[in-house]
Amino acid sequence: MTAPETGDGRVGSRIQNYTTYWQNDGEQDDKTGTENRVENYTDVVNGYYDGATDLYEFGWSRSFHFCRFYKGEGFTAALARHEHYLSAQMKLKPGMRVLDVGCGVGGPALQIARFADVTIVGLNNNDFQIGRARRYTQKAELQDKVTFVKGDFMKLVEKFGENSFDAVYAIEATVHAPSWEGVYGEIKNVLKPGGIFGMYEWCMTDEWDPSIPSHQELARRIELGNGIPEMRALSKARAALLAVGFEIEHEEDLAERQDEIPWYYPLEGDIFKAQTTWDYITVWRMSWSGKVVTHYGLWLVEKLGLVPKGTWQVGETLKIAGDAVVEGGKTKLFTPMYLAICRKPGRV
Ligand SMILES: C[S@@+](CC[C@H](N)C(=O)[O-])C[C@H]1O[C@@H](n2cnc3c(N)ncnc32)[C@H](O)[C@@H]1O
Repeated sequence: MTAPETGDGRVGSRIQNYTTYWQNDGEQDDKTGTENRVENYTDVVNGYYDGATDLYEFGWSRSFHFCRFYKGEGFTAALARHEHYLSAQMKLKPGMRVLDVGCGVGGPALQIARFADVTIVGLNNNDFQIGRARRYTQKAELQDKVTFVKGDFMKLVEKFGENSFDAVYAIEATVHAPSWEGVYGEIKNVLKPGGIFGMYEWCMTDEWDPSIPSHQELARRIELGNGIPEMRALSKARAALLAVGFEIEHEEDLAERQDEIPWYYPLEGDIFKAQTTWDYITVWRMSWSGKVVTHYGLWLVEKLGLVPKGTWQVGETLKIAGDAVVEGGKTKLFTPMYLAICRKPGRV
């Protein structure tokens, strides 16, 4: 195990190592690049988030996910609505014990705990993000309702035991798993019989055809820019949910809604699409001038030793991420919001 090098949970060497997982993406020894990333998923994902977390918080928010937008609706209000929507679809009830799988810095957990009056355990494999999440929870004085645990979502039963939660949700997190059957199976096992699982999954849509080189290349750019070992098709997510024994009660790709303002609009960096005055700043950060400022600003803070070495390089991959995600959204080859509400069979 590599020792933390920064004192805040981030490990410099794995940040610096991150992009090497996509170099020589063909055969490496007897493995393909994808096989190598899947096998080393912990290092790939943590290397990415050690480098990207500050940038996510600076450029996006404390909720590390996408959402739909309504006309005139502010950016943070729309993110919160997306979280409330999931919790309403799951019919969370006051007093339930809920697991947030891959909880980021706790933005959604704090929202959902307030909205649904539930108790939430946030699970994350990234020490740096857990430190941040605990700090924000303390500030919000919600530490009695929201707690955080370090752990790998591929080993939930080992951590919590079977039948431990009334409900589980995962927001744009389980795409990082080396296998969907693996993570969904663990989620099902920690749920009580009759318990509910709600998720927003990142998928290539069923229009995506990996035998087409440009489609394959788009998936690679989404992976590299977002710390994802392997992008997979939506049909595989559905099949994995059913294979582990979930009953799917409701499913919808929310990116298919006929929205006037597309879900990817903030990443386009087009300030004329900003919905409120405050949103100009968020959207500007994604514009080309905003990206130039971040590019040199990040280079400088890394040189000054204020962020771990390699952070600038991960920041460069975020630009690839933004462009690839927008392209995936426009071509409808990619969705970050496949919503599935699933039940574990049995009596509540
Ligand atoms: C895109 S972020 C979403 C975070 C959060 N759900 C949100 O919406 O703000 C993905 C999260 O999954 C976590 N994650 C990835 N792989 C994990 C694993 N194997 N075990 C636990 N957490 C993991 C990452 O550390 C990160 O916090």
